[in-house]
Amino acid sequence: MSLDAVPTTANDRATWIAGPGAKCCDPPAVPVRAYRIVLLGAPGAGKGTQAELLAQQTGACHLSTGDIFRAAKTIDSCLRTPAMTAALEFMHKGELVPDDTVLAILRERGVCLGCRGGFLLDGFPRTVAQAQALDGLLMTQRVKLDAVIDYRLPIDVIVARLSGRRTCVGCKAVYHIETKRPKITDRCDSCGCDLVQREDDRPESVRVRMNAYLHSTAPLIEFYQPRGLLVSVDAHGQPWEIFERTMRGLKGKDLRG
Ligand code: AP5
Repeated sequence: MSLDAVPTTANDRATWIAGPGAKCCDPPAVPVRAYRIVLLGAPGAGKGTQAELLAQQTGACHLSTGDIFRAAKTIDSCLRTPAMTAALEFMHKGELVPDDTVLAILRERGVCLGCRGGFLLDGFPRTVAQAQALDGLLMTQRVKLDAVIDYRLPIDVIVARLSGRRTCVGCKAVYHIETKRPKITDRCDSCGCDLVQREDDRPESVRVRMNAYLHSTAPLIEFYQPRGLLVSVDAHGQPWEIFERTMRGLKGKDLRG
């Protein structure tokens, strides 16, 4: 499979993106087994790209907290809550959004964690406090985590990936100016909307994001390791190669037959 063939998830994620007032129009069919997985890794390690591949394979929803914030940015500023407006300022600078705001958003969407299709959590948890809160949310929904995948990649490769990333303003599909080009320059293959560079992919924000990752998110590896949930995956190479490594890692955990 080439990078051009990275598919997009079939689930519309309406409840996740817009909150509890929005109903997913096409809830996933009951899978043979629902996978509940957390994706860890530095910004740009390829979590979102792998989440799309995993969503296709498992039917689970790709639940990205970053996507919630980016969607909120597109609504009229008068309609945004003050907390969400503040959250967007943190995001713009590359800083983590405060735990209280993130957790309030997650609690509103707790039903997504209990969804019969399972989930691929991308970008949450990002701090130990968030991981502890996730434990409580999962207990409320009477579900358990199956695995925590940690994508590992050196910083120079990450910076190259982030500087070339372009994202669709409509369907949020992700491209890269060298490794995953759209058929028409700056136009999304799937929905035809414009492709733009994320504000937080500017070099000064990338530096802040890397620091936030090292200080706040990397400790999650220690948090999950003793629970036997951690699957470390080398994130070098083509997306399909990384995807195959991921599936092998999950198989090693007895999650894929
Ligand atoms: P978020 O959206 O979660 O961003 P991130 O974690 O920084 O991760 P990215 O989306 O940048 O990268 P990715 O690992 O998904 O890589 P991708 O697949 O796109 O969060 C953004 C912000 O929101 C945060 O900084 C924070 O402010 C806030 N936030 C979100 N959640 C929060 C939380 N829980 N708490 C507090 N704050 C929160 O790939 C990158 C590029 O590389 C793409 O162009 C892709 O096409 C390309 N690529 C991918 N794989 C490959 C490959 N194998 N080979 C070549 N190119 C590849």
